[in-house]
Amino acid sequence: MTSVFQGRSLLAEKDFTRGEIEYLIDFSIHLKDLKKRGIAHRYLEGKNIALLFEKNSTRTRAAFTVAANDLGASPEYLGKNDIQLGKKESVEDTAKVLGSMFDGIEFRGFSQEVVEGLAKYSGVPVWNGLTDEWHPTQMIADFMTIKENFGYLEGINLVYVGDGRNNMANSLLVTGAILGVNVCICAPEELFPTQEVVDYANKFAKESGSKLLITADVEKGVKGANVLYTDVWVSMGEEDKFEERVNLLKPYQINMDMIKKTGTKDDELIVLHCLPAFHDTETEYGKMVEKDFGITEMEITDEAFRSKYGRQFEEAENRMHSIKAIMAATLGNLFIPYVK
Ligand code: CP
Ligand code: NVA
Repeated sequence: MTSVFQGRSLLAEKDFTRGEIEYLIDFSIHLKDLKKRGIAHRYLEGKNIALLFEKNSTRTRAAFTVAANDLGASPEYLGKNDIQLGKKESVEDTAKVLGSMFDGIEFRGFSQEVVEGLAKYSGVPVWNGLTDEWHPTQMIADFMTIKENFGYLEGINLVYVGDGRNNMANSLLVTGAILGVNVCICAPEELFPTQEVVDYANKFAKESGSKLLITADVEKGVKGANVLYTDVWVSMGEEDKFEERVNLLKPYQINMDMIKKTGTKDDELIVLHCLPAFHDTETEYGKMVEKDFGITEMEITDEAFRSKYGRQFEEAENRMHSIKAIMAATLGNLFIPYVK
């Protein structure tokens, strides 16, 4: 009997049911436990995994590499300048070649169409390691981290503050809506999510009972938050937008004042960030922003980042356990009982 996951690609969260996403979260928690106890889980022995990266990455690349090794598979990194994709060879041709040699393909890049094309033509599972539109593998780690901290997901209030139309905002809004998590996107109107994304989220929210709110009002938005989430103000590929974003997003910075504004009890609030984060001037961009705009912290202050609320490094570790679950479920020929 093959499971509902066998041979599937993970391109966008909207293609998966609530039960399937919940299964992947719980399987990630299980695999984390096996790893901590030193119990082998080599479900992909002998498989070969291609890791395609058009954009930079620390966590996603490291997570796919370690997860593949732990599962007994061999990962191969194929960076933007290493292969012919895009410059000399089409997505279709590249997909056919890679699919004839590799058993699974991860792709991180700009266009959602490319990752969809790889899935269409390769004949093997393709995992979206981030595009301009979605970051689905991050979602399994994020909601896993929330579940580990609170013990449940339904009814949790997640508030995302910052650039409301980037991949992270899109993915959190839609995944939260699927899972019955209440999601508020708190952003300036210029950076509200597109109608298309809001429509997807509303459709899922109707089924799950999740309450959604898109607002520019910080006081209203953050009130009652259990999870305060933010992301960089300028995503990869938008590096000419620092001035615009600094001006628009300053009021949406996570700081201790915003944490106070939630009004949430201490043990009912956590702060998440997919990372990398600009919480000090220890980076080239951090220094550039200090010089050009006179601020030493962007989307989150160093104090809030290092506070007792911060769970961003647990979240980062969970990228590895969750990517392992995604690869094992879709490629591992595992016995998985019926999942709705
Ligand atoms: N969160 C995340 O995707 O990190 P990387 O860009 O380092 O992979
Ligand atoms: N929105 C960010 C996410 C990084 C993990 C970006 O696309 O750069």
